[in-house]
Amino acid sequence: MSSMPLIEARGLTKKFRQAVKEPGLVGSLKHFFTRQYRDKMAVDHIDLSVEAGESVAYLGPNGAGKSTTIKMLTGILVPTEGSLIVDGLVPYEKRQQNARNIGVVFGQRTTLWWDIPVIESFNLARDMYEIPVKRYKQNLAEFTELLGLAEFMNVPAGKVSLGQRMRADLCMALLHDPKMLYLDEPTIGLDIAVKDSIRKFIRRLVDERGTTVMLTTHDLGDIEDICNRIVIIDSGRIIHDGDLGALKDNYARDRVIHFQLARPPESMAAICAGLPACETTSDDGLRLSVRFDRFQYAAGEIAAAVMPHVEVIDFHIDEPEVEDLIRKVYLGQLSLTAPESTAEATESAVATGA
Ligand SMILES: Nc1ncnc2c1ncn2[C@@H]1O[C@H](COP(=O)(O)OP(=O)(O)O)[C@@H](O)[C@H]1O
Ligand SMILES: [Mg+2]
Repeated sequence: MSSMPLIEARGLTKKFRQAVKEPGLVGSLKHFFTRQYRDKMAVDHIDLSVEAGESVAYLGPNGAGKSTTIKMLTGILVPTEGSLIVDGLVPYEKRQQNARNIGVVFGQRTTLWWDIPVIESFNLARDMYEIPVKRYKQNLAEFTELLGLAEFMNVPAGKVSLGQRMRADLCMALLHDPKMLYLDEPTIGLDIAVKDSIRKFIRRLVDERGTTVMLTTHDLGDIEDICNRIVIIDSGRIIHDGDLGALKDNYARDRVIHFQLARPPESMAAICAGLPACETTSDDGLRLSVRFDRFQYAAGEIAAAVMPHVEVIDFHIDEPEVEDLIRKVYLGQLSLTAPESTAEATESAVATGA
C-alpha cells in the first residue's frame, strides 16, 4: 500500500466535444441545421506519478489542460481514456470518499459561506466531514494561530479582506486533515506580507504533516518557497517534469558573457572566429558579448578565446532569469526555446521525409 504513489495517472486523457461554427449568418443557419463538432484534446495521454509528501507546481499556458487535470484528480470530471488512481481510489467512482482525502483552494473562489461568520463556516465543515471534535479543535487552534484568523473569526466572509479570505479558505480546506491539497493560484492579488505567510504555512504543512501539495501559480515565489518539483503541461501534454534546476538546464541553457575592454577591438572577425554568437554591444566598441550554450562551452573557454585578441578589464556572466522562464511557460513559448524539442522536431521531420 505504502509503495504505491498517491497519484498514479497512465495515459490520462480528456476530450471535449466542441461545436464548430462558421462565421456569419449563413454559418449560424448551417450550424443550426447540421451541427459540426470537433474533438478538443484538453488532456492528452499524460503519465503522472506523485508520491505522498511531494509538492508539485503544475504549470502551463492558458488552455493547456491544468484545470481539466485537477478536475479529474478531484473526481469532478470523468476521463475519456487512461487510468487514474488517487490514494487507492478511482476519483470519479468514489467522489465522496475521495473528497475526504483532499482539500481544494481556489484563489478566485471561496468555499466559505458569504453571509455567516467565518467560524460558522468552519463548524459546518466539521459537521459535513464528521471531523472528530477533539481533532477539529486541535486543527482549528493550530490554523488560527498560524494563519492569524482570530481577529476576523466572527466576521462574515463577505466582509473580510482578500488576504483574510484566502487564509480562512486554507483553514477551511484543511480542517478534515486531507492527505492532498490542491491549490489554484493561492496567492493571486495578495500583498507581499500575506503571500509570504501563506507560502510559509503551506511549506510547513508539507514538512510537518507530510501533506502532498499540487498547485498552479504564475508566481515564481510560490514555486521557489513551496515546490520541489515542476510539471509543465502544454496543449494537453507534459513537456517538463523535474525540479527548478532541471528546468533551467533544459530550457535556459544559454549564458551570456560580457567583456569590458580597454580599447575597441581591431578585428571582430579575429575574436569571434570559432565562437558562438559574438557581438559588440556598445557604440564605443568597449563592450563585447558572447552568447553560448553552457553544455557546449565552458565560460572559461570563451574567455580564453577572447583574451589573446583584446585587453579585458572586466567580465561577468548573465545567469538566466527564472522569472523569464516562468513567464515563457505561461506564454506557451517554452517548447520553442527548448533545444531538445528542436532536435526532436528535426528528427521527426527527417523521419517523415518532410
Ligand atoms: N467543459 C469544457 N467543454 C469544452 N472544452 C473545454 C471545457 N473545459 C475546458 N475546455 C477546453 O480544454 C482546454 C483545456 O482547458 P483547461 O483545463 O481549463 O486549461 P487551463 O486550466 O490550463 O487554462 C481548453 O482548450 C479549453 O477551452
Ligand atoms: Mg485553469
